[in-house]
Amino acid sequence: MKQQLTPGTVVLVGGGPGDPDLITVAGLRAVRQADVVLYDRLAPLAVLDEMRPDAERIAVGKIPRGACTPQERINEILIERARAGRTVVRLKGGDNYVFGRGGEEAQACALAGVPVDVIPGVTSAVAVPALAGVPVTHRSLSQGFTVVSGHVPPGDPRSTVAWEALARSGMTLVVLMGVAHLGEICIALAESGLDAATPAAVVADGCSPSMRVVRGTVADIATLASDADVHPPAITVIGAVAGLDLNAPGDGWTP
Ligand SMILES: C[S@@+](CC[C@H](N)C(=O)[O-])C[C@H]1O[C@@H](n2cnc3c(N)ncnc32)[C@H](O)[C@@H]1O
Repeated sequence: MKQQLTPGTVVLVGGGPGDPDLITVAGLRAVRQADVVLYDRLAPLAVLDEMRPDAERIAVGKIPRGACTPQERINEILIERARAGRTVVRLKGGDNYVFGRGGEEAQACALAGVPVDVIPGVTSAVAVPALAGVPVTHRSLSQGFTVVSGHVPPGDPRSTVAWEALARSGMTLVVLMGVAHLGEICIALAESGLDAATPAAVVADGCSPSMRVVRGTVADIATLASDADVHPPAITVIGAVAGLDLNAPGDGWTP
């Protein structure tokens, strides 16, 4: 990783899952050096305290179903500031290339002739389950995991996810942005052959003092999460590993 940011460059920095201790060394160094930081709601906001006092901070947060800065406008700001010779950090939660639209931002900058550097981040897809005591793989339980967006429900014409194939994959499923459609997702998986008794866990507000874990099965996790009034951000883990709680005493098997 570069020790010094290059003026006129956009640096895509993955901020990790929210705890300021979980940004990378390179990511923190970039935030400290930046002339401008554009950040999202799920970025580790405490890290902004590390910015130079004269640096510009721009909130472009996207609240689910709420206010947001259009992606095109974010791209424009990145390009404008970089063309003005500033060092621009685009700080996002997790990793910019995991449902972070980092690829689009990199493409927009490249088309505008603006150089881009990437500093990967710790994705919430792995870190948030881990903090809740759920490993996304575990020898003898799961030989792989699939990270999938639940933003568009199964059966919706916009969906390109083969839920029926995922139901048969034998892999852990890690569903991001799936709170609103968790019921439909679980029904689709069960109808495609996934045992309804398969463990499932929803982890909400990972990395924050309000982190909560709701545990159940494919049959009841949507109802349990709704009864617990779970709201985004939350991650659902579906698969045998979701029956583990490695934060608990003993071998971590939940009763
Ligand atoms: C637009 S995606 C961004 C993912 C991010 N780029 C990453 O790699 O972690 C936002 C979704 O990530 C998940 N997420 C991110 N941070 C989270 C956290 N701290 N706790 C729970 N879920 C989180 C939620 O499913 C949320 O709706």
